[in-house]
Amino acid sequence: MKKDLGVIPSVYPMPVLMIAAYDEAGNVNVMNAAWGMTCDTDKIALFIDEDHKTTKNIRQSKAFTVALADRAHMAEADFFGIATGNKMPDKFARTGFHAVKSTRVNAPIIEEFPLVMECELAEVVETENLHAVVGKVVNVAAEEAVLDEKGKVDAEKLQALMFDQFRNGYYVTGEQAGRAWNAGKDLMKKA
Ligand SMILES: Cc1cc2nc3c(=O)[nH]c(=O)nc-3n(C[C@H](O)[C@H](O)[C@H](O)COP(=O)(O)O)c2cc1C
Repeated sequence: MKKDLGVIPSVYPMPVLMIAAYDEAGNVNVMNAAWGMTCDTDKIALFIDEDHKTTKNIRQSKAFTVALADRAHMAEADFFGIATGNKMPDKFARTGFHAVKSTRVNAPIIEEFPLVMECELAEVVETENLHAVVGKVVNVAAEEAVLDEKGKVDAEKLQALMFDQFRNGYYVTGEQAGRAWNAGKDLMKKA
């Protein structure tokens, strides 16, 4: 028996994305975004508010990076979602994290996070129902420590945080329940 819960954000899990961009003076700022997703093989859409410092930075720098936050850096990742660069100019510096400029786009790469997507701003989509910052991913880089023997990203090693918007929790799991495009294949045989 299902109980009605009303209208609540109910997709689970959500990612914990670290969006990094430079301001007009070249200072690094980072924000936490759970509402973001791959929207094409080489595109990512971020549903981030217009008034965030990050959004303003992306609009002027035309580039950003998206890192996956991991378990080891949960406190800093959460802080990036609590504090705003609009009011805290040293937001990034407070974490003691390190950033290097991407060689491909005009945006910082945060060294501490294990996987990063380097993005050019493709467009900002604004409609009555949507404010989306869309990035064209020009490269993905990952620490060797999170790769398997074939060079693919290993979720167990990655330890990426997942966000639970029901109870505001961060979760980690690398347990594989099955293989995609495979777990349902026996049903394909049914007459
Ligand atoms: C777990 C978590 C997820 C968040 N997801 C989003 C999001 O998807 N979109 C958004 O606009 N803000 C999101 N926020 C809020 C921003 O991270 C927050 O407002 C931050 O202060 C913005 O930083 P900035 O002004 O320095 O860019 C999230 C915060 C947390 C803690």
